[in-house]
Amino acid sequence: MERLQKVIASSGVTSRRKAEELITQGKVRVNGEVVSELGVKVSGNDVVEVNGVMINRDNAKKYYLLNKPRGVISAVSDDKGRSTVVDYINTNERIYPVGRLDYDTTGLIILTNDGELTELLTHPKNQIPKTYVAKIEGLLNKDDIDRLRAGVMIEGRKAYIKDFKIRDKNFEAKTSIVEVTITEGRNHIIKKIFESLKHPVIRLSRIKIAFLEIGNLKSGQYRELTIKEVKKLYSLK
Ligand code: URA
Repeated sequence: MERLQKVIASSGVTSRRKAEELITQGKVRVNGEVVSELGVKVSGNDVVEVNGVMINRDNAKKYYLLNKPRGVISAVSDDKGRSTVVDYINTNERIYPVGRLDYDTTGLIILTNDGELTELLTHPKNQIPKTYVAKIEGLLNKDDIDRLRAGVMIEGRKAYIKDFKIRDKNFEAKTSIVEVTITEGRNHIIKKIFESLKHPVIRLSRIKIAFLEIGNLKSGQYRELTIKEVKKLYSLK
């Protein structure tokens, strides 16, 4: 924790004395709230704005939401030279993906350098919901749906579905489009669930993480999370 005026001064926007004036004039916000008294300390996770502009801190936390294309790995680097989710983000910060999507899975992934938020979003106890749209082989019958709702045993532990709906059925091609929300993060979990029901996944996309939706982010596009969104993610604990 460091004094607010020191954090502002070391970001280079102004001197420490001027930073103190700006604070007492009510021109500084911490996590969206005006802080007008001196003596407040902030941590590396706090977002500091001066005159409505977020200051740049060496240890500033960054948060991005990427619509991952197919054929991209969810890692910081790849020894086989394949492109990674980090390659899509224009930043010098040392960010990394929160959790992972398979090489052939598309859709939403958060990238950050905030270890605390990463822990919060990936820890099983927090049950953060993630929604996927999958194209699967075959048409689900009542028995399949009952099994899904009861929880499917995957590697000795049940995987529970929080929400499920069939979006579309193609009787000719014998494929279905389903929407599934789960709160767990085991690797390949959606593919394993449908594999065990004998309806293998043909295509998979993540369309939602908690309240964050894909919106109009096209494949390969990203945006920064807003301060409000970051605060809301923190409140999911
Ligand atoms: N489940 C999967 O099978 N693959 C993913 O990429 C994400 C969840």
